[in-house]
Amino acid sequence: MTSAPANLLRPDWNTTAGDGWVAAQSAMEAMLKPFSQALCGQLEDMPDASVLDVGCGTGATTFDIQDQMSPGGRCTGIDISAAMLGAARERAAREDSPARFIEADAQNHDFGEARFEAIVSRFGVMFFADPVAAFANLRSACTAHSPLHMVTWRPASENPFMAVARETALPLLPPEVAQLDKPTGQFAFADRNYVADLLAQSGWSNIVIEECNAACAFPAAALHTYAARMGPVARLMPQMDESLRETVTAAVHEAYLPYVQGDEVRFDAACWMISAKA
Ligand SMILES: C[S@@+](CC[C@H](N)C(=O)[O-])C[C@H]1O[C@@H](n2cnc3c(N)ncnc32)[C@H](O)[C@@H]1O
Repeated sequence: MTSAPANLLRPDWNTTAGDGWVAAQSAMEAMLKPFSQALCGQLEDMPDASVLDVGCGTGATTFDIQDQMSPGGRCTGIDISAAMLGAARERAAREDSPARFIEADAQNHDFGEARFEAIVSRFGVMFFADPVAAFANLRSACTAHSPLHMVTWRPASENPFMAVARETALPLLPPEVAQLDKPTGQFAFADRNYVADLLAQSGWSNIVIEECNAACAFPAAALHTYAARMGPVARLMPQMDESLRETVTAAVHEAYLPYVQGDEVRFDAACWMISAKA
């Protein structure tokens, strides 16, 4: 196996990570549904609002919010992944949905005259190169006192399902892949004090960070695709020779088996619901 360039260990939303999400889209949408429902709950009293969904990916949360709005309400998704937005736009056309999508980096996109009345995100805000700049940019795209609600992961230690592939693969991989031992963006917002500080630095107030837990499930038939396409181990697979790839794939698959119950994969997710006001 060749040593892995550092950038392989961070999601590349315009190649492996984005393509992986599109391949595993139906499993991911089933698995993360409780969190789009939690975000919809936060906006129940804003049926006519203009809402921005940051890091919207294939648009699952954007559509759920749009669907609960009155005809005057509009949900717009922003994302940097062309592949994931392609899937979102196809769905919008198929369902004749008024949801809109912007392909841009939310950290520095110029939203022009647009002013949103609420911002949400389901796991789409942990990957900014400069989080303070990103949240300041998002605040400037809002009307005064607009609410921000976002769901992020608590630490890997509280989310064993999310860590099982990495922990299983790590001892099997050559030492030059030590970067796999470092946390990736997925858990970048695990420390609530860090998140509260960066939101305050970027001008947000009324910051409230509460536990948000959910029982997640997706069809067991999708486990192979999920294991092969999602997460840091999947991103390293192309760098492995065939024999190592087979060893790692078999070990990771076995490690997931305790989570299979009947025809579903089930696990408990430990997240934050982070809220603030512009
Ligand atoms: C973990 S996925 C979540 C996708 C979606 N919110 C969901 O829950 O299905 C993270 C998303 O954030 C997007 N993303 C990462 N950095 C971004 C940035 N700087 N600006 C906009 N989107 C970004 C990725 O392309 C990806 O779609």
